[in-house]
Amino acid sequence: MPDSESRFSYDEIAEAYAAGVDSAPFNAYYERPATLALLPDVIGAHVLDAGCGSGFYAEQLLLLGARVTAVDGSAEMTRHAEARLAQLGSLDPGGESTGRAAVRAADLTQPLLFLEAATVDGVLSALVLHYLRDWGPTLSEFRRVLKPGGWLVLSTHHPATEAVRYDVSDYFATEMVEDYWSWVGKVRFYRRPLSAITGALTDAGFVIERIVEPRPNDWFRAAEPEAYTRLLKQPEFLIIRARLPA
Ligand SMILES: C[S@@+](CC[C@H](N)C(=O)[O-])C[C@H]1O[C@@H](n2cnc3c(N)ncnc32)[C@H](O)[C@@H]1O
Repeated sequence: MPDSESRFSYDEIAEAYAAGVDSAPFNAYYERPATLALLPDVIGAHVLDAGCGSGFYAEQLLLLGARVTAVDGSAEMTRHAEARLAQLGSLDPGGESTGRAAVRAADLTQPLLFLEAATVDGVLSALVLHYLRDWGPTLSEFRRVLKPGGWLVLSTHHPATEAVRYDVSDYFATEMVEDYWSWVGKVRFYRRPLSAITGALTDAGFVIERIVEPRPNDWFRAAEPEAYTRLLKQPEFLIIRARLPA
């Protein structure tokens, strides 16, 4: 698929995504427990939720004691995140998070000018980076806003599983693919080899601490017994914790 078709906006699917994601088994009982398990202690930490969607992780981070700046490229998604965080009573009116939480519409391929350098303790970017062709500028920006020793936890599609699913002719290519989620519709994102993922992180100055290929939990087995059996043999996601040198 040509790059001209690369701009896939969540604005079009924001309602369906926000309505369904918290009970979607692949998120609720598979990706999210594994991603949350990789978080370091966030009490008192300033965390950037990069690609916050409808705000699940921002809410969890707040409940765990963090201060959160949540950004997303979709204005529709930020509205859902704002509504969720407002319910917690911890939403700042805008700008950098000075109280408990702020939500901003921002494109992660561009500089995050509203964040000063070295003001963030950690970045959480869950199921977001595969929407970007080039991770370099985004990871450099994460490095700029992070304090020395700051952490990055990301989740993304598993490159080996994608290579099989899309029957790729060149595993090493970075290319746009299309998927269909029954509860959302058509989505487009990039697939890339494992070495492109790890290479982008190390090129940006991160040291990889953990790589997790998650297992589905018992709730997932109850909801999706066939997929459960498949996921035990073929992981769908990759979850990585990386850190800048102190
Ligand atoms: C699969 S959703 C994940 C949302 C949330 N992290 C979660 O796990 O529920 C992907 C999110 O990435 C956002 N996104 C995609 N490309 C982006 C970009 N260039 N800048 C900012 N956000 C982007 C989308 O708008 C969408 O909300």
